[in-house]
Amino acid sequence: MLSLGVLASGTGTNLASLIEAIEAGRIDARIAVVICNVPGAGALEKAKAAGIPTVCIPHREHASREAFDAAVQAELERHGVELVVLAGFMRILGSAFVRSWHGRLLNVHPSLLPAFPGFAAHKQALDAGARITGCTVHLVDEGTDTGPIVAQAAVPILPGDDEATLHQRIQRQEHQLLPAVVGLFAQGRVRLEGRKVHLDLDGLDPDAALQVPRA
Ligand code: GRF
Repeated sequence: MLSLGVLASGTGTNLASLIEAIEAGRIDARIAVVICNVPGAGALEKAKAAGIPTVCIPHREHASREAFDAAVQAELERHGVELVVLAGFMRILGSAFVRSWHGRLLNVHPSLLPAFPGFAAHKQALDAGARITGCTVHLVDEGTDTGPIVAQAAVPILPGDDEATLHQRIQRQEHQLLPAVVGLFAQGRVRLEGRKVHLDLDGLDPDAALQVPRA
């Protein structure tokens, strides 16, 4: 069974979607630890309520990015983590950390990458007048939201949308897509080939496997 480490900074709704999918038996994995850099964050409470070990590592208590990353790394190793999921983790991780998790570090981003990387992706999409945005689950490389894409879901931008309404609809898709991708990982169906991800969907309904809504 795949051991996950989830890194979060916020409310933890994506974490909750993983917990739910695991508890329902839809993913053959366990969350070995939830690591949070923000004391009191909702993600910590959600993990504790599910009986998952938690570690709070406030970044301000570390002199450098490297020292913070090393503290995170030590906890991931201590808990035997095999795949790291960034679920709303609002710290940039340094190169050494990213390299050591090559192909085993997932992030969920609220846009259809490579459009609108970095902060305020919803605002970027609204300001650009885009008609469609969405969410992306990707492997993390040393750039900001530039890593190989694993799966995406599209979300229309509707007249009258603001950041809050768009965020809400994108999150609904994230909560489907992230557990679906982690489930594929747990089955050994996600393989990095150079800069691209190969998905082995043999024997699966591809739409269902990636939670793509039917037209
Ligand atoms: C998500 O919308 C994700 O796209 C972004 O951060 C948000 C985290 O939300 N990276 P939550 O804490 O999982 O609710």
